[in-house]
Amino acid sequence: METLSKHSIVKYGDPILKKVVDPVKEITPELVKLTDVMLDIMHEAHGVGLAANQIALDMSLAVIGYRETVIKMFNPRIVERGGETQVYGEGCLSVPGVDGDVKRYTEVRATWTDEHGQPQDRKFSGHLARIVQHEVDHLNGIIIVNHFSMAARTLHRKQLEALQAEAKAAAKRRSPK
Ligand code: NI
Repeated sequence: METLSKHSIVKYGDPILKKVVDPVKEITPELVKLTDVMLDIMHEAHGVGLAANQIALDMSLAVIGYRETVIKMFNPRIVERGGETQVYGEGCLSVPGVDGDVKRYTEVRATWTDEHGQPQDRKFSGHLARIVQHEVDHLNGIIIVNHFSMAARTLHRKQLEALQAEAKAAAKRRSPK
């Protein structure tokens, strides 16, 4: 698909994954279209969530598609954390071939603006709570590797270095200096 090939998923080591992205000021029809493109990219990659900076866009937007739940979040924020913390082996489309234990809250409350410009305020639990935390992390420049133990980083060192080299080359192609 033409729209898909325009965007590729940026990998670990790309500076945009470390950036706190800019807020979205206005939800335009183009941005609504973009949310569907992001869902397509996410499904194609067999993911359950995708943040805009994972396709090199500096904006606070994430999509989630998990089981029957599809959510498009502009400027999402986690406003409450609760339940307990749980450790689970997590992966990320920007860090292929790597997964490791990440500690997350089992319940969160998030606010965001939906694709119709309506404010949303919702509680999540279980795996959805984990996904929301993962995506909001992305928009704050945080990825799973930042949560890993030293042992997990060491275990995946070779793959992380390979991804880093690939990402640096890709970032250079995007904005040659
Ligand atoms: Ni991710």
